[in-house]
Amino acid sequence: MRINVEVKEGIHWVGAVDWNVRDFHGYSVEKGTSYNAYLIMDKKITLFDTVKKPFRNDMLHCIYKVIDPSKIDYLVVNHVEPDHSGSLPEMMDVIKPEKLICSARGKKALVEHYHREDWPYEVVGSGDEISLGRRTVHFLETRMLHWPDSMFSYIKEDALLISSDAFGQHWATSRRFNDEVDSSELMRHAAKYYANILLPYSALVQKLIADVQKMDLKIDMIAPDHGLIWRHNPLQIVASYAEWSRQVPKRKALIIYDTMWHSTEIMAKAIGDGLVEGGVTTHLLDLAVNHRSNIITEMLDAAAIIVGSSTLNNGMLPRMADMLCYMKGLRPLNKIGAAFGSYGWSGEAVRLMTKALEEMKIKVIHPGMSLQYVPTHDNLRQCVDLGRDIAKAIVP
Ligand code: FEO
Repeated sequence: MRINVEVKEGIHWVGAVDWNVRDFHGYSVEKGTSYNAYLIMDKKITLFDTVKKPFRNDMLHCIYKVIDPSKIDYLVVNHVEPDHSGSLPEMMDVIKPEKLICSARGKKALVEHYHREDWPYEVVGSGDEISLGRRTVHFLETRMLHWPDSMFSYIKEDALLISSDAFGQHWATSRRFNDEVDSSELMRHAAKYYANILLPYSALVQKLIADVQKMDLKIDMIAPDHGLIWRHNPLQIVASYAEWSRQVPKRKALIIYDTMWHSTEIMAKAIGDGLVEGGVTTHLLDLAVNHRSNIITEMLDAAAIIVGSSTLNNGMLPRMADMLCYMKGLRPLNKIGAAFGSYGWSGEAVRLMTKALEEMKIKVIHPGMSLQYVPTHDNLRQCVDLGRDIAKAIVP
C-alpha cells in the first residue's frame, strides 16, 4: 500500500506493506508484514522510523502526499534493526534533518551499521522530552524489546504511544487499524509475533508494563512498527502481553515429532491417547507439515512438551534438531516434558532429545520411551501409560 493514512490529526502513517516476505529469520510470516513509520506535522516536522531498504520509494511516495520530505526537521530512530533503518542512509540524504534522535545504544548501533559519525545525532534516554511545537515527545528506553537500542516515543498531547517492535504483528493488510480487521486473526498474529520474537524477554516485558503503569500514562492509541495500529481498546494488547509474558500453562500438551517409517508416529498417537484420557488438550505436530514458528505459538500456553524422533545415523532426525535449537533460543518457561522414539540398532535420539529438554530447563518427568523398530501392542500400552502419567503431572 502506498496510501498515507492520518492516524490522528496531523499524524500520518507513512510506512510500507510487504506482501511477499515469507521468512523472518526462521519465523514463517505467511501473510507478509508491514514496516510502519509515522510523520508528525508540527512546528518541527518529525519522522519516526523508516522502512526496510527495498521499500524506500513506497515510503517517500507516502511522505510526498503530505509534504516535501526535505521539509522534515527531526528524524527519530526508535529501533536500528534494518527492517526499520535499512532506508535510513538514503532518507538522510533526502531529508538532511536538523536532528537524528536516538538512544545512546541506538547511536552506537547506527554507527556500527552505517559508519556515519557525521550525522546530527541527538541522544535521548528514558524520561527525556523534546518539544515539536504543539506536541511533546517523551522517550522511554525499552532495551532488548527488541534490541539494546529500542525505545518508545510517547506523544503526550495525543496520548499516542509509538511502540517500535512491541505490540506488533507480521500481517500485510490494506487496513491500518485493529478495528478494521478480524480480531481473532489479529490476536493470532500478535500471539505468534510475541512467541517468536519477544518470548525470551518476557521478564523485561513485565518490568516495562509495571514501569508504564507507574507512569500512569494516558494511552489512546498504540502505533507499533509492524502490522495494525491499536485504535480501539489499545490496552487489550498490553493485557495480552502481561498474560503471555507470565507463560501460565493451560492443561495443554504438544507432541512434536518427526518419523522415519511411522513407528515414532504410532508412538505419538498412543501417547496422545493417554493425554486425552487424562483430560489434556493435545496437539499432534508432525514436523514434516508444521512450521517451527507455528509450533512455538502453540507452545506459549502449553504445559507439556513431548518430543519424538527416530534415530538417524546415531542422532535425531534433522527437523527435530532444528526445532529444539529454535526452541532453546526462545527460552520457554513453566513446562514439563519427555522424549520418545523408535530406533533400529543404536537408539541415541531419545537420550539426545532428553538432554536438550533439560538444557532448556524443561522439567523432564520420564527417562524417555525408546522402542526398537515397530512397536508391539504392549509397547503401545506403555506409550498410553506415558501419556496418562504426563496428564497426571500437569498441574492443575
Ligand atoms: Fe522489526 Fe527488531 O525489528
